[in-house]
Amino acid sequence: MGCTSSPDLSETALWARYRDQFPVTANLVYLNHAAVAPLVKPAADAIKRLTDDACSFGSFHYDDWLQTYDGLRAAAARLMNASPDEIAIVKNTSEGIATVAIGLDWRPGDKVVVFREEFPANYFPWVRLEKKGVTPQWLSIHDPPDAIDAACRGARLLAVSFVNYLSGHRLDLEAIGEICHRHGCFFFVDAIQGLGAFPLDVRKARIHALAADGHKWLLGPEGCGILYIQKDFQDAIEPVEFGWTNVANYADYASRDMTLRPDAGRYECGTLNTVGCYGLRAALEFLLQVGVHNIAPALLALSAQISDGVTAKGYELLSPRDPASASGIVTFRKDGLDSRLIVRQLRDQGIVASPRQGWVRASPHFYISPGDIARLLATL
Ligand SMILES: Cc1ncc(COP(=O)(O)O)c(C=O)c1O
Repeated sequence: MGCTSSPDLSETALWARYRDQFPVTANLVYLNHAAVAPLVKPAADAIKRLTDDACSFGSFHYDDWLQTYDGLRAAAARLMNASPDEIAIVKNTSEGIATVAIGLDWRPGDKVVVFREEFPANYFPWVRLEKKGVTPQWLSIHDPPDAIDAACRGARLLAVSFVNYLSGHRLDLEAIGEICHRHGCFFFVDAIQGLGAFPLDVRKARIHALAADGHKWLLGPEGCGILYIQKDFQDAIEPVEFGWTNVANYADYASRDMTLRPDAGRYECGTLNTVGCYGLRAALEFLLQVGVHNIAPALLALSAQISDGVTAKGYELLSPRDPASASGIVTFRKDGLDSRLIVRQLRDQGIVASPRQGWVRASPHFYISPGDIARLLATL
């Protein structure tokens, strides 16, 4: 009998090992994770299980729901090296940002360091603080460390995205965290465009608070996200959305004791998005199993293939390619070609990307193959 050796998984490319967890690959070349990702199969399965159960049993298995909330907080904590009691379940990134922006006790004359290139979600809430006498100090994400250092002097908070939504420029959070630490400046990170794609360690980067929704690089559903607030700052950030579940005794409806929950659960206001929690928990556990440290190099290889390929075809890149600041997002355009038309033509061929401000933004996740990218390049 011949010897049939099973393939050595350690030698199989990451995309090939996990591709069957992404049924979308049967239909589309999906290069749009910076917008809304397809659900990874374990997330879709978990959501189906929950909806079947809720349909047949109502809330009879409520204890499982509670375990899922805890499981979600624990998985989110593992993903960023936080502790589960530092994780709140929120409805989206914006709610997480607003919780910090509105919850801190601002004083007239306070200064916040903010960045011009940010997505509106991490821009508007800080500008609104001007009403409270807070001054925004504007920087560019391309400014050198010296400029950040100078801006942080005397500032109360710095807010920035891990990865820029448009250019894909990825910041060195540890370097910024070190500057904030030296100046006693609160460090807030909008992590939605990087968490799940690149390793992020809140302790090493000395991040005080961070928010991310589940529907991009985390491969979960929309409307369910996570907010991390470092333990030492939970008393300094007042829960502004206040309902019945912010308090420690929330399971006792007769109680009028408003003592806050002893953990980041104090930022959860009312009934949670249980369907979303099932999906996001499963997605995070899947990512932990794959290992974000494995995903990052795979993504860098894919984005390099796109950058090199589109450059060879005469397209201009929004961000010059540099592996230290590259991400899963590659943004390009060509003079005389309308980006919306390019995206429509790609769509006609089953390739999904986004038009953004005159540019084409492609954002593959790690299960996309080099062959998929070759299809993109051949179609452009
Ligand atoms: C950097 C960044 N922050 C926030 C958001 C929006 O987040 P949410 O809808 O979860 O509030 C986006 C969406 O594209 C984004 O790219």
